[in-house]
Amino acid sequence: MHLTHPDITKTLVTAEQIRERIAELALEIDQAYQGKDILLIGVLKGAVPFMADLSRAMQIPTKQDWMAVSSYGSGTISSGVVRILKDLDTDVKDRNVLIVEDIIDSGLTLSWLTANLKAREAKSVEIVTLLRKPDAAKVAIDVRWVGFDIPNEFVVGYGLDFNENYRSLDGVGVLSPSVYS
Ligand code: XMP
Ligand code: MG
Repeated sequence: MHLTHPDITKTLVTAEQIRERIAELALEIDQAYQGKDILLIGVLKGAVPFMADLSRAMQIPTKQDWMAVSSYGSGTISSGVVRILKDLDTDVKDRNVLIVEDIIDSGLTLSWLTANLKAREAKSVEIVTLLRKPDAAKVAIDVRWVGFDIPNEFVVGYGLDFNENYRSLDGVGVLSPSVYS
């Protein structure tokens, strides 16, 4: 669905910009994992379009798995206490893991997830995120690849939702406040 939508007040990233950036990221990731086995771990559900497009832009073969997690905490504030809703089907021991995420806000979710996968004795754990908000800088988390740094606004599209809506928009935009009320 096209991003030109009555509920979107501002376009932050167009479908074309996402395509171009993913091509660049895929090239860098291909080079970093040349000759190595790589397991992509997507975080459900927001990372679905990103992982699908990124993995198909890559030239090296990938294996893929998914995790669903939920942060405890009130409202929209992430607490850093994470609950696994759907665990991996794959044993990550001795695997090169690349976490594929839609957006990093406080960074608490990913910092927990990284520690969790390292505790399972993954050989390496790296992160690629399509979007990063300014608050992510406050937490010591090593994000190897970032698609776009965006302002601190609630965004939807390209996998990101509000109440499960807008995931199928082809770009990323700011949601109109009128939708919340
Ligand atoms: P952290 O732990 O980094 O949480 O604070 C990241 C998770 O928060 C959600 N999130 C958003 N979802 N639009 C969304 O649709 C946003 O602007 C947004 N900011 C954060 C998202 O689930 C992400 O995985
Ligand atoms: Mg989400």
